[in-house]
Amino acid sequence: MTKKTLGLDSPLYDYLLSVSVRESDILRQLREETAHLPRAVMQISPEQGQFMTLLVQLLGATKTLEIGVFTGYSSLCVAMALPPDGKMVACDVSEEYTTIARRYWEAAGVADKIDLRLAPALETLDELLSNGQAGTFDFAFIDADKANYEKYYERSLELIRPGGLIAIDNVLWSGRVADSQVKDNQTNSIRAFNQKLYQDQRVTLSLVPIADGLTLALKRP
Ligand SMILES: C[S@@+](CC[C@H](N)C(=O)[O-])C[C@H]1O[C@@H](n2cnc3c(N)ncnc32)[C@H](O)[C@@H]1O
Repeated sequence: MTKKTLGLDSPLYDYLLSVSVRESDILRQLREETAHLPRAVMQISPEQGQFMTLLVQLLGATKTLEIGVFTGYSSLCVAMALPPDGKMVACDVSEEYTTIARRYWEAAGVADKIDLRLAPALETLDELLSNGQAGTFDFAFIDADKANYEKYYERSLELIRPGGLIAIDNVLWSGRVADSQVKDNQTNSIRAFNQKLYQDQRVTLSLVPIADGLTLALKRP
């Protein structure tokens, strides 16, 4: 037994998957298709997707925000957990990747829940704010360019309601955040972002060591 979070070697990780992940056929097909792409590593893991499904159900979310769609795995996990009248605003800049996402949203019957905005996410978030949508979202997932994480977070915090949740991906950055020899811009951005959230009393915080690290920030009243 240990009080420290376990590091997962391959056998233990395989065991975890074998007794917990209930990936639907459509999600598995999307993961298999994405695996052929050069940037496949950008996709979230199946256990993280399932965890996010659970979070969205716990929140009773009906309106969500996704920043960084890629081929659509995380958006599909969230959209399938929304009620039939649920809505998601999904932000990405890539026509190529989101064409794949759209195909899977259609196949899963959730395309009508998803409003894809093909534009830099900061523009979309500012537009939502200027259209009076502050405080109307239940859940936001941040998983796009790391240099803008802080800006995505500040805008998402305005857009979600009190009691709403922001989930931020890649906060452990393959362990590089803890390696003082690593000083590139992306790693420094994530370090600064993690420090900022640690001090931020506007949210209740947990950094969950799932996949590449997922910070959960619950907006306080
Ligand atoms: C890590 S991937 C997202 C993975 C996705 N959540 C999934 O589950 O597969 C990051 C995505 O952010 C998009 N992106 C990068 N810069 C962006 C920006 N400024 N605005 C919107 N999207 C951006 C990329 O095109 C890419 O699809």
